[in-house]
Order: sequence, then C-alpha cells, then structure tokens
Amino acid sequence: MKITISTAAPSQIETECLVVSVVDAAAEAKNGDKPKPAPQLQTDDQAVSAAAADLIASGEATGKLLEATLLHKPQGLKAKRLLLIGGGKAKSFSSYELRKLAGAALRALKSKNLKSFLFVAPNLASGAPDAVKSIVEGAYVGSFEPNYYQSDREDKQVDEVVIAAKGDEKALNAAAETGRIIGEAQNFTRDLANEPSNKMTPTILGERAKKMSDEVGLQCEVYGPDKLHELKMGAFWSVSQGSDEEPRLIVMRHEPKDAPEKPVLGLVGKGITFDTGGISIKPAEGMEKMKYDMAGGAAMIGVMRAIAQLKPNVRVIGIVCASENMPSGKAQKPGDIQIAMSGKSIEVINTDAEGRLVLADGLHYAKQLGATHLIDAATLTGAVVVALGMVNAGIFANNDEFYDRFSQSLKKSGEKMWRLPVDDEYREMLKSNIADMMNIGGRWAGAVTAAMFLKEFVGDTPWIHLDIAGVAWMEDAKPWIAKGPTGVPVRSLVEFVLEVNGGNAG
Ligand code: BES
Ligand code: ZN
Ligand code: ZN
Repeated sequence: MKITISTAAPSQIETECLVVSVVDAAAEAKNGDKPKPAPQLQTDDQAVSAAAADLIASGEATGKLLEATLLHKPQGLKAKRLLLIGGGKAKSFSSYELRKLAGAALRALKSKNLKSFLFVAPNLASGAPDAVKSIVEGAYVGSFEPNYYQSDREDKQVDEVVIAAKGDEKALNAAAETGRIIGEAQNFTRDLANEPSNKMTPTILGERAKKMSDEVGLQCEVYGPDKLHELKMGAFWSVSQGSDEEPRLIVMRHEPKDAPEKPVLGLVGKGITFDTGGISIKPAEGMEKMKYDMAGGAAMIGVMRAIAQLKPNVRVIGIVCASENMPSGKAQKPGDIQIAMSGKSIEVINTDAEGRLVLADGLHYAKQLGATHLIDAATLTGAVVVALGMVNAGIFANNDEFYDRFSQSLKKSGEKMWRLPVDDEYREMLKSNIADMMNIGGRWAGAVTAAMFLKEFVGDTPWIHLDIAGVAWMEDAKPWIAKGPTGVPVRSLVEFVLEVNGGNAG
C-alpha cells in the first residue's frame, strides 16, 4: 500500500473518494435530555463544507461514531465521491478514534472495489504528525484479511492512501513512514498468528523469524532441543517433550553500536504453536483456537521487525519460546517435577498451564543474556478473559515506575490494557508439598497466580507481563478490523521501545 501526503486543499485533489470525519459538537444537555446532534466537519476547506452541507442539514450525517454517508459526484470537488465518517463526540475525539475511522473507511471503500482514497487529517491536540501516523496505522489494521487459504478469495486491496494534512512536510512524511512500519509489523504478526498449526510449527516459526531478520538486518539465532538441554531449560523442555515437532528457541537482537550499555530490554513471547492442553487435555469444543497460542511470540517477532527499521538507539533482545503442547507417550504427566533453568523445582499439576513453563525459562535466559528490563506477552490464561473480556489485556508489573512509563505508550498506541495485582499474598496459592512451587494456583485469581508464577523467575528485574489471551483474537469483525488475529500488543511495545532512551530514535 502506497501512502502519500498532500498539503494541497482537499477540494482541489483528484481522487476516487474524499473521506472527511464528522464529529458531534453538541454540548451536554443539562436536564438529562439527549442533546440534538451538532455535526461538525473536520476540515476548514470551505468547498468541502459546501459539498457536505445538504447531507448534514438533512440529518443523515450526525457525527455518530463510525456512521458512514456516501455521496457521489460532490459539487465543487475534484473527488468522484465524498465519504463522511462519524468520529463521535468532538470533546473526546483523539488518535484512538481516528485509527478506527481510517480502518473503517478503508474497509468500506475496499468492499466497493475502490483502489485509492484521500483522507483529510483532522486537527488533533497531539498534532498533525500524530494524526497522519494514526491514519496510516488504522489503514493498515483495516487492510488485513485472514482468508489466505480461500481459493476463490477476491483480491480487493486498496493500493494507495493519500492523506491531506497541514504542517511541516518533512515531519508529516516521517510520521507516515513510522505509521507504515508499525502497521506492517502489526500485520506481519497477524499473519503469523493466523496460520494454522500444521502451517506454523515451531520450526516454521523459527524460519519465518530468521527470514524476516535477514531482510531487515537483525541478528537472529534459532536453536533446537540440544540448546534447550545445554541450557538446562527443564521447564521449557517439559512442554516440548510430548511432541514430534521439535521446539525452537528464537533469539533476535537489536544492538546499535552507539547505544548505551544499559538499559537492555528483553522481550519474551509465548510461542505455543498449538495448545492441546497436553495430558490435561482441553475439551474439543473451541480447541481449534489454540493455534493462536503463539500470538505473544508472534508479537515479539513483529516488534523486532519494526525496531530494526525504526532504529531506536536502545538495546533490545527478543526471545520466543516456540513449542507444541501435545499429549503422547513421551508427554509430561500431572505430578511430574521439572527443574527450570533457574534451578527452581516445579510440580506440574496441570499440563495445560504450559505457557508459564516455557516463559519461566525464556525470562531467565533473557536475564542471562543481559536484559535489565523484561516484558513478556502471552496468551496465558482463560482467567484473564473471564476478568477483562475481549476489551482489555491484563497487565502485571513488579515495578511502578516501569509500569508508569509503559502506560504512557498505551496512550500512544490506543491498545487497551488494565493493571492487575501481583501482591505477595497470592504467592501462597502456588505452594507445593514436594517442590518449590506448583504450576497452578487453584480456582481463584487464575490470571494473577499465572503472573505470580512468572514473577518467581524475574527476581528484582523490572518486569511487565501482558496476558493477551482475550485480545489477541477478534471473535467478530468490526467496521475497522477483520475477524481473526489483532496483532496486539505490537504497537504498544514499539511505542515503548522508541521512548526508552528519551525518544532518541533516529
Ligand atoms: N493457552 C491457554 C490460555 C488461553 C485461553 C489462551 C483462552 C487463549 C484463549 C493456556 O495455556 C491455558 O490453557 N491455561 C489454562 C490454565 C489452567 C490450567 C490453570 C486456563 O486458562 O484454563
Ligand atoms: Zn494451556
Ligand atoms: Zn497455552
């Protein structure tokens, strides 16, 4: 997809379709009555306002979020069509809504087989470059389709998005480029997570990571069972031992020569390419979804891709623990004791709590490789879905300052996450009679006890854990995004990395 910036007046640009957002500027009603909508076009191009005047006067375009109104042959414009798209309340309009509008516009026009359109960047408090970046990101999110294996799939793709914006052209173009890199990385991740387990084994995931790394200039090593044994990764291996598919330990590094020695950010992803539950096998219904149990790992691969292209001056190590979780004659059994790389012993009560086992060794290894700060992403628990549904990811942190900095990145990315506790009192729930800990904590607070398990392996290192089980996959299509993999938390992690050394990306 080609992205172009134009500083010309939107009415003077030739395009298949001119897209303008409309917000509702109605003041809050005092007596509790619903206020009458006061639609406001987000452009100061008078010719566009004139062309849209009838649609607005008729009450067809109210500014309601994602309401789309299409007009053919708009008078006085060089565009063939005019699409008005609702942005919701004027007061709360931000990059969060703008991304969705761009995605929704792209999807609506793509379905009509249009190949290009022009989007007018609205004024945002965060500035014109941020508006441009959000439009590009939203357009990429909207462009992804999961129907790769349909033999009759129609290749309706938008080839070009032009963004009309005002300001310093260099800054606007740089913002568009950053948006493109982040959007492509997110879709790269979605592509990996979308693949079924027979097309995305640990071996294939390793190959994809290596190929990507070679293309963008990242160092990448992909290790197999011998390395796991050499490193004494007993927790990781215990998950892999039941499968005929070999595990892969994927290590990607972004190490700019002039970057400060510290911090070193370790990004660790759960890469279970299929989770049957192992001997503690899952019910058949819905098990097919467990192909996306590698979404955390896929996210880390996408993030490393973006980092290699954006080149922030910070050291980052990406680690993915890729494995299947299968039942077999070789599989681990409930009650088995495993010794993790850190030396801690684990009583495996439930072989379906496998993500924390592979991450235990992944996190420890990241520290051994020099990580001073750790972030992991994992489709770790059904319990986080019970707690937060499919709206927010669960976020856990052992360090408030680290959390505060990360939450700034959430505002930029527009990805929703909600903090849950890791108080020491929960540690008791993991107590084992026979080993240092059990791998599950009983009926209550399942997302928290999973995080508490990981916490045992990070020690004092500042650490953030993202449980993305509920948000890595969209159960239903939305106007701005297809059903299927979402690529969360790629954007937040990239935003965070760009800010690590004071935002000195270059
Ligand atoms: N991969 C699952 C978690 C999951 C659930 C991901 C729903 C995506 C959607 C994880 O490995 C798992 O099975 N967790 C168990 C833990 C339990 C045995 C303590 C769970 O959540 O049921
Ligand atoms: Zn599981
Ligand atoms: Zn799992």
